[in-house]
Amino acid sequence: MEVVIAPEQELAALAADAIESLLRRRPRTVLGLATGSSPLKVYDELARRHAEEGLSFAEARGFMLDEYVGLAADHPERYRNVIATEIAERVDWPADQVRGPDGLASDLPAACAAYEESIRAAGGVDLQLLGIGTDGHIAFNEPGSSLASRTRIKTLTRQTQVDNARFFDGDVERVPTHCLTQGLGTIMEARHLVLLATGKHKAEAVHQLVEGPVSALWPATVMQLHPHATVLVDEAAASRLQLADYYRQTYASKPDWQGL
Ligand code: F6R
Repeated sequence: MEVVIAPEQELAALAADAIESLLRRRPRTVLGLATGSSPLKVYDELARRHAEEGLSFAEARGFMLDEYVGLAADHPERYRNVIATEIAERVDWPADQVRGPDGLASDLPAACAAYEESIRAAGGVDLQLLGIGTDGHIAFNEPGSSLASRTRIKTLTRQTQVDNARFFDGDVERVPTHCLTQGLGTIMEARHLVLLATGKHKAEAVHQLVEGPVSALWPATVMQLHPHATVLVDEAAASRLQLADYYRQTYASKPDWQGL
């Protein structure tokens, strides 16, 4: 696992570099998309590169990590709409090439199975962007999730509802109670995992993710078992890392050509 400690804007540029390099080499790249605050600067940077440098998503496929259950199709916080607004519609990405689990399906387990199948049919995810919850979740795999789990329905913890209330006018009661989420086993099949975390409130989760024992109590720790995982953190999110100096030293002496 590689840990890079840098200012937020620099982290966003690094993630965008990794995505750009995939898209330039293979326009039909499959990208895994996260919602929430963590990837927003990456999406801004990708939109800028599209507008100013001709970076194209026209042939790319995108798969979202998760979706709330039951939010109306036109609700601005429905993740499908968030991804359209934050990235897909800001670049040349055809709407039908970006998919997410269907939180409005009448048969939710069937929708989850169909979603797994569509990721498989696309050849799997090349690069998966991730954020981390303060309770250590990735996607919406809350503490206690099976490390081998697949796309399924989950109940959000109260902590996650409280954390996400800011997207619902600060009203925790308006945050949905359930979601559909890629499982940890699903996420682990992506070829490169790139997790972004900023702010002191993420410091304990980041410490556990990188340095804690692998455990369902901190679901993100499963990433320690991935052969190509990159953790991009600012100073505040890195503030509890025991080996921070070593990560800094390693990154500082990394050859430029290596990329993430
Ligand atoms: C969202 C997702 C979540 C968030 C996490 C952090 O698609 O999968 O795991 O990444 O809740 O959220 P932010 O980035 O808003 O702090």
